Amino acid sequence: MTQPSHGGNVYKVARDRRVPVERIVDFSASINPLGTPATGLRAIRSALKQVMHYPDPDCWQLRQVLARQCGIDPEMILVGNGSTELIHLLPLTLAIESALIVGPTFEEYARALIGTGSSVQYIHARREERFRPPIKNILRQLSAKETRFDAVFLCNPNNPTGQVMTRASVCELAEALDRRQAWLIVDEAFIDYCQAHSVVSMLSTYPRMLVLRSLTKFYAMPGLRIGYLAGASKVMDRLKDRQPPWSVNSLAQAASCAMLLDDSYVTRSRTFMENERVRFVQALRSLSGIRVFPSAANFVLMELPVWTSVGEVTDRLASKRLLVRDCSLLPGLNRQMIRVAIRTRKENRRLIAALGICVKKKK
Ligand SMILES: Cc1ncc(COP(=O)(O)O)c(C=O)c1O
Repeated sequence: MTQPSHGGNVYKVARDRRVPVERIVDFSASINPLGTPATGLRAIRSALKQVMHYPDPDCWQLRQVLARQCGIDPEMILVGNGSTELIHLLPLTLAIESALIVGPTFEEYARALIGTGSSVQYIHARREERFRPPIKNILRQLSAKETRFDAVFLCNPNNPTGQVMTRASVCELAEALDRRQAWLIVDEAFIDYCQAHSVVSMLSTYPRMLVLRSLTKFYAMPGLRIGYLAGASKVMDRLKDRQPPWSVNSLAQAASCAMLLDDSYVTRSRTFMENERVRFVQALRSLSGIRVFPSAANFVLMELPVWTSVGEVTDRLASKRLLVRDCSLLPGLNRQMIRVAIRTRKENRRLIAALGICVKKKK
């Protein structure tokens, strides 16, 4: 199986361009620009002495903290080496033979499903509707007699469109799937930016709903690898049986416990993003021919003008050490699409200036 082209591969770009990793500004992975919280880094330093032991295979302490925050039992949580590990445990454990993916979206669901022999169908939000979540079409598709799905994968808010489905709509979907004895997997990797729509508190109402979360994005720790799945405890036990032992290391566990309690970081991050997103989107919209789609998260999807080629633009930006995510081959999008993270004010200005030059019409 080939690797999908996720964002964030700063090491490859650094090697290819012969520049140090630190000189690359990564707009291709949507990581909180405020950086890893100092509370987490301090916790790592004091946990260093623990590396002489195996990590806690039950992530006991971390599950207590997560459970308190989610308002659920610790038994309803399984921690993984990033949420990607958990995505890959789902198809076989839940015996998913056929799945519906709400797209255009994160490619790892399809990769996990196809890799284990499941059949995959997509239902795409439409560009003409600014990628509004296609709730009615999903419900219609589910009630079609000729189709039967074991699971629906929904990313909320959705990567890369930035659109969010309301909690009421997700619950409507959960109810429809419950009636059909099928699973609903809701990936809330970016929910920290629009928490009112989280369905984690609804898990006891919908036993066939699973909520996937990641600490990677909001806590700026992609290199540490922590994600978790929340759902019925019996399901978590089954998944844990298939998980490799000690897949979550002690430094990541210690850092996560500390960061999750850092309320000041959470408030600063949300406030920063709310303000900067408005500014950033406005500035992008002022560039000639670029269409910017509205976003509830810390990234935006945009369509470059027809007189440009995405390959050329991303290349020119990379030559200035600005990395953006080429989305032109993602199922459900067209060839002019890129996604960019919202970063610090200064970095965003740099990107906008560079992008402005790339999209200028040649006379
Ligand atoms: C929507 C979504 N879910 C899950 C992941 C995986 O995150 P991680 O494995 O770092 O927790 C990503 C990473 O890009 C993502 O965009």
